[in-house]
Amino acid sequence: MEFHASGTSCLDWSGDALIIGLSEEALPLSNTLAELNHQVSGLLQELIDEVEFTGKEGSTAITRVGPGAKVRKLGIVGLGATAAITAETLRRTAAAAARLAKKEKCASLGLSMPLVQQDAALTAQAIAEGALLALHQDNRFKSDDKNGKAVVEHIYLLDLPGQESSLQTAQAICDGVILARELVSAPANVVTPETLAQTAQDIATAHGLELEILDQAQCEALGMGAYLGVAKASDLPPKFIHLTYKPTGTPTRKLAIVGKGLTFDSGGLNIKPTGSGIEMMKIDMGGAAATLGAAKAIAQLKPSVEVHFISAAAENMISGHAMRPGDILTASNGKTIEVNNTDAEGRLTLADALVFAEKLGVDAIVDLATLTGACIIALGDDIAGLFSENEDLAGAIATAANATGEKFWRLPMEEKYFDGLKSIVADMKNTGPRPGGSITAALFLKQFVTSTPWVHLDVAGPVWTEKENGYNNPGGTGFGVRTLVQWVLMQNTGS
Ligand code: BES
Ligand code: MN
Ligand code: ZN
Repeated sequence: MEFHASGTSCLDWSGDALIIGLSEEALPLSNTLAELNHQVSGLLQELIDEVEFTGKEGSTAITRVGPGAKVRKLGIVGLGATAAITAETLRRTAAAAARLAKKEKCASLGLSMPLVQQDAALTAQAIAEGALLALHQDNRFKSDDKNGKAVVEHIYLLDLPGQESSLQTAQAICDGVILARELVSAPANVVTPETLAQTAQDIATAHGLELEILDQAQCEALGMGAYLGVAKASDLPPKFIHLTYKPTGTPTRKLAIVGKGLTFDSGGLNIKPTGSGIEMMKIDMGGAAATLGAAKAIAQLKPSVEVHFISAAAENMISGHAMRPGDILTASNGKTIEVNNTDAEGRLTLADALVFAEKLGVDAIVDLATLTGACIIALGDDIAGLFSENEDLAGAIATAANATGEKFWRLPMEEKYFDGLKSIVADMKNTGPRPGGSITAALFLKQFVTSTPWVHLDVAGPVWTEKENGYNNPGGTGFGVRTLVQWVLMQNTGS
């Protein structure tokens, strides 16, 4: 699929489908739209009347235009109230329009949308992101891939001339989101720790990034007992991934992004029972997927920021080698952990990954993890938890998230709750009581970061969707990639 930032207006464009974004205030039709209506012999007004279209956000309608017209089909998509239109509105409505064009078997789509924040670059990027993400279809595991054929081949962003670089930015970001989606959607017999390492290798090779993959022996030498405890039962060897993007010239900032990379979480000897969603636990590398997706985007966007992408990838399985409930592990910072539940494994892998990240001397660390079911209970499927004791960094992530439309909600790091992790025999247990389960998980991670500004993002809910949702399709969502990229780009300009 190809995008074109076109100077053509909706009155002059010709192609298969012309779809117009209409706010509530655009009705009754006036000016250009009245002229367009006239041009199509009143069909636009007829369509509006026929479906009682009021401009409600996301509502769509389409009709065939008679022979001899410039376009084969004319469609409308509601934008809601003008004052409430944001970049996210454009992403969602461009997605609706692209889906409509696909359903109507249109190879070329002309999209006419209003400017958001009087900013043509932002507008073009948002429209392209929404359309690209909505049109991405993953048929890798279907033997019959005939419905995988791209229908929409060209999208023309009307009245947005000269926005080619915004389209390239959107394409780079969506490349990263789509990589993350495909990593999450692939089953655990396809995406293994080795596959994640190979994916990092592919990014490094394609874009000239530095890559270090630590094997089990190297992790042992670094004392990563918490991570290796989790990896022990699997036949698949652990892969500790450290991918580095370095800008040309002196970096303005040094950042680390750490992703939980459990390619399957059986729960270990505290095995997940039927009904607990064990068959979904291929998604437990959603944090690592977002980390690699962000790397793929950032490698193309080339900000003047150094970024370290880290994942302690492993599989949480059972075997005669498995760590036992009650085992005591020693992490690479020397802290000892009584494993009272082998299913609280993500925090064990993150412990050593966070220690590793901090040793790099970075200015900030962000981790993403499908860490707790409790976070889904608290915030539902669409909102991730945000934990931090650093106001500036928490604010920066929230600002970045706002710009992308990804939703986060800050939860407290109530120190008193660490009491629930107190162990008689070791420095801490890995699991506290059920109440506040996401908070004790965050407090556990905190034991492995000393002084670097740090944000923990619990993305257990939004990494996956069962239903079409905005520009997401059923499956992995690539959640987190766009916020990470936005955050890194913000460091670039110092804003
Ligand atoms: N990977 C799970 C968390 C999870 C659950 C992610 C559902 C996505 C969907 C994590 O490793 C886990 O098992 N957490 C336990 C923690 C408990 C043992 C303290 C949980 O949430 O039940
Ligand atoms: Mn688990
Ligand atoms: Zn897990």
